[in-house]
Amino acid sequence: MPIVLEKLTYTYQNGSINAFTALNDIDLTINDGEFVGLIGHTGSGKSTLIQHLNGLMQPTSGKVYVDGIDMSDKKVRKLGRQRIGMAFQYPDYQLFAETVAKDIAFGPKNMGLTDEEVDRRVREAMRIVGLNETVFADKSPFELSGGEKRRAALAGIIAMYPKYLVLDEPMAGLDPSGRRGVLETIERFREELNSTVIMVSHSMDDVAKSAERVIVLQDGRIYRDGAPADVFCDAEELNRLGLDAPFAARLAAELRRRGCNVPSDIYTNEALACFIEHLVKGEV
Ligand SMILES: Nc1ncnc2c1ncn2[C@@H]1O[C@H](COP(=O)(O)OP(=O)(O)O)[C@@H](O)[C@H]1O
Ligand SMILES: [Mg+2]
Repeated sequence: MPIVLEKLTYTYQNGSINAFTALNDIDLTINDGEFVGLIGHTGSGKSTLIQHLNGLMQPTSGKVYVDGIDMSDKKVRKLGRQRIGMAFQYPDYQLFAETVAKDIAFGPKNMGLTDEEVDRRVREAMRIVGLNETVFADKSPFELSGGEKRRAALAGIIAMYPKYLVLDEPMAGLDPSGRRGVLETIERFREELNSTVIMVSHSMDDVAKSAERVIVLQDGRIYRDGAPADVFCDAEELNRLGLDAPFAARLAAELRRRGCNVPSDIYTNEALACFIEHLVKGEV
């Protein structure tokens, strides 16, 4: 069963003179197994939208259903929330235990799992996020680097086996190797646990690399919703929205401008590299 948003509208400080409608009449269905990239310029409503998915925020009007569970119904909201693993932009707020292992164990323990099962999940989550157990299990979360912290926070979420993994700017502030590590973690998690991923990101390259569906928010409305090839190959439209196209799409556009016949659906580095390889060999 999917996540369904029905005419979701959210107004900050509703009723006051400062009222601001951040989400406007959003209809959206996210199906099982999808990897959705949610993009849009700062202030377009991305964080407001995803905080509705686990009931952290309640709509001003409209509905949010998680697997058919009405998230505005206090009696059942908890059941919907359990299916959503939410990673916030700043992992520092998510880490609090003495050691990395205890931190990761916190969620599964609260679910009432046996000690053996908790242990097993902690080890599995550390493997998936690429934190070596011998090195990291007994370290304080606060001794970790930015990328390691984010991976530890992700491990804590992964260990609860959420059906939906919702990530708000999971790579923000990381160096390139940290970014790659976190993105690979997300991909591995999805493959191994068969989850649905909804990822907010500023990096078009990261979204291009992983997402199968791209949703563009603009002033609290869904402006585009489609395949990455369709959304990312229109660099001019993205620019109008204050967004960049992925690096490969921009390079492909520049090559086309200079007379090289690059196909219009190339938007990832891998696809462009492959095209250039064929070009060099004289195969295109
Ligand atoms: N607590 C708040 N009170 C009033 N306006 C807010 C509040 N939080 C966010 N907003 C406004 O709502 C809009 C959407 O914000 P947000 O969802 O954080 O956007 P994004 O995550 O896309 O940058 C922005 O214009 C922002 O200024
Ligand atoms: Mg945000």
